[in-house]
Amino acid sequence: EIYYNATLYNQTTQISTSYYKLEASAKLRLPPAAYDYAAGGAGLETTVAANRAAFDNWSIVPRVMRNILPKRNLTTTLFGKSLPAPIVMAPVGVQTMFHPDGERATASVFGELGLPYTLSTASSTGFVDVAEANGDNPRWYQLYWPTDDDLTRSYLKSAKENGYDVLVVTVDTWDLGWRTRDLDRGFFPFIRGIGVQIGLEDACAHEKLGFNPLSPNATDEQKQMAALYHVISTSRGVSPIWENLPKLREFWGKGPIVLKGIQSADDAKKAVEHGVDGIIVSNHGGRQIDGAIGSLDALYGISKAVKGKITIGFDGGIRSGADIFKALAIGADFVQIGRPVLWGLAHEGAVGVRHVLKSLLAEFDLTLGLSGCKSVQELNQSFLVAR
Ligand code: FNR
Repeated sequence: EIYYNATLYNQTTQISTSYYKLEASAKLRLPPAAYDYAAGGAGLETTVAANRAAFDNWSIVPRVMRNILPKRNLTTTLFGKSLPAPIVMAPVGVQTMFHPDGERATASVFGELGLPYTLSTASSTGFVDVAEANGDNPRWYQLYWPTDDDLTRSYLKSAKENGYDVLVVTVDTWDLGWRTRDLDRGFFPFIRGIGVQIGLEDACAHEKLGFNPLSPNATDEQKQMAALYHVISTSRGVSPIWENLPKLREFWGKGPIVLKGIQSADDAKKAVEHGVDGIIVSNHGGRQIDGAIGSLDALYGISKAVKGKITIGFDGGIRSGADIFKALAIGADFVQIGRPVLWGLAHEGAVGVRHVLKSLLAEFDLTLGLSGCKSVQELNQSFLVAR
């Protein structure tokens, strides 16, 4: 049972239930490179802002005097599995940047709550250790699709063997966006020309880099960023294409395949045509293209085009229970939580992650009830009005 009394819980932790205070105190706790890596976006960061602004384009219209009991039903079925709530961990790489327990902490808390945990290809912790921390609970694997088929097969084999049973293929990040906060720290030469052409070790030693992540003097952040960029460089700046999906299906075998990073209704229709099991409407938290459509605005058009034909996930800017309500009402079948979990992780690892998730669940449950819904299945666009 994950229904949660936030008021009670709040007496047992010093961590704020306000997202903005949580982020501010995470910033104080984290090394600046780690905070900027997580908080930052592409270019002028207008897409990061658009993701939030899109939530303000919709207002909740509550219904009252209905027979609502103190406990709402958040249960949802995704890809044939019953889950306690339609909430999934967004894949996030190199989590030991935010706390030494990194992925172990986040995977253990998602496991405790029975909510799916998505392991990133750029994880700082391996398949086996994360599976062990996650226990006998649903877990998914996010793939940065390498150009080398042997490498792809080997990733998928490890995922399958360790119980990751939904494959999430990120299609918007075959090259990294223009992230100025990271560029200014000298993190990028790995993929921008140098890493791809001459390999990791030589790239690390390259004078233009300004630091050598393989040297004993490198900071932890520098080493982790180097590993991340190395993973991305396995796609060598080459975009995945629809035509190669059958090959991926063959490598993965039985089990759902979900495309993450869909923003256009036409691409959503193509995903349906290609027999993909799900899509995740996402712009990578505004980290890839500056000046792009807010993810919730994209969700509206995509729901209109493919709702009911394919499972629709959503991420980008979810910060509160009301945000979860709006995304599901517009048409998402599930939502993913990204940055809030990282800010939680920065607060003593699992303790902070648990606090963030339980607060989100409690606020969502409460918003659902106060708006006149007994269950998530009752949510639809009639509960919203566009501003
Ligand atoms: C991400 N995201 C991401 N996505 C992915 O498919 N693989 C990855 O390894 C990562 N890594 C990653 C690191 C960090 C620090 C962030 C903030 C994000 C994108 C993530 O899955 C999700 O799409 C966004 O985080 C959603 O935006 P918000 O709600 O976190 O702002």
